[in-house]
Amino acid sequence: MITLTDVWLTLGERQVLKEISLSVPAGETKVILGGSGSGKTTILRVILGLYRPDRGSLLIDGQDITATRERNLTEVRQRMAMVFQGAALFDSLTVRENVGYRLWEQGRLSDAMIEKSVRDSLQFVGLEYAIDKMPAELSGGMKKRVGIARALASGARIILYDEPTAGLDPINTCMISRLIQLLKSKGVTQVVVTHDLATAYRVADRIVMIHKGRMIFEGNPKELQSSADPDIRSFLEPDGQCFDSEAFAASEIGEP
Ligand SMILES: Nc1ncnc2c1ncn2[C@@H]1O[C@H](COP(=O)(O)OP(=O)(O)OP(=O)(O)O)[C@@H](O)[C@H]1O
Ligand SMILES: [Mg+2]
Repeated sequence: MITLTDVWLTLGERQVLKEISLSVPAGETKVILGGSGSGKTTILRVILGLYRPDRGSLLIDGQDITATRERNLTEVRQRMAMVFQGAALFDSLTVRENVGYRLWEQGRLSDAMIEKSVRDSLQFVGLEYAIDKMPAELSGGMKKRVGIARALASGARIILYDEPTAGLDPINTCMISRLIQLLKSKGVTQVVVTHDLATAYRVADRIVMIHKGRMIFEGNPKELQSSADPDIRSFLEPDGQCFDSEAFAASEIGEP
């Protein structure tokens, strides 16, 4: 369970998050939608404990970690895994080493147990055959799946995704959505940041929408579709705005 309450965050001169309150119950998949620069990645970084809010609190599984010292965050962080925007694999390591990296680093399991966990995770994403390959030999979609296998192998019960389908074709996009759905059925708590509506509708139990650092919506996909809020409508149906010169000016990297 993840609970953010009234979180405010300034980075540099910019008020990046304003009054963010959201909670993700255990086993739920929450999608965070929003345009470029709206603050989505920043929210994931707050959840991971990488940014400390100026105000407000963050609870992971009921434990308030807002003021926890860096060195005491290790145990909480081990319950979470992040699937990064560009998959973020180590180029000089094989798929096996990439997926097992965190387990080797933790040093708690035998080599045989790590190998089993790596194989099981790769099998889950349909890539057991690629275990000895190098990242450079993989397509973008395969890399993303290796990133998911790595999160799964780490044993994390909370998985955060930053744009898991960006740059993928429709079939690979659908495949990633399917994996997120399967992980949901395994009881994993998930936060999926995306601006891809098709992915959002496929995987979300509930959706949060962020606009200029503020939450402008919280609800299920149906409620989002029927919202009359103009900022939500222009996100869902951008055609009217994308050649509008005022919108061009205002979109200068998410001016607050
Ligand atoms: N370290 C930083 N210092 C100053 N400003 C930052 C920093 N990181 C992010 N920002 C600003 O915070 C805002 C939100 O950034 P964030 O990366 O969370 O957006 P996003 O919603 O993930 O966008 P995208 O969809 O493009 O990935 C942006 O205006 C960005 O310029
Ligand atoms: Mg981002």
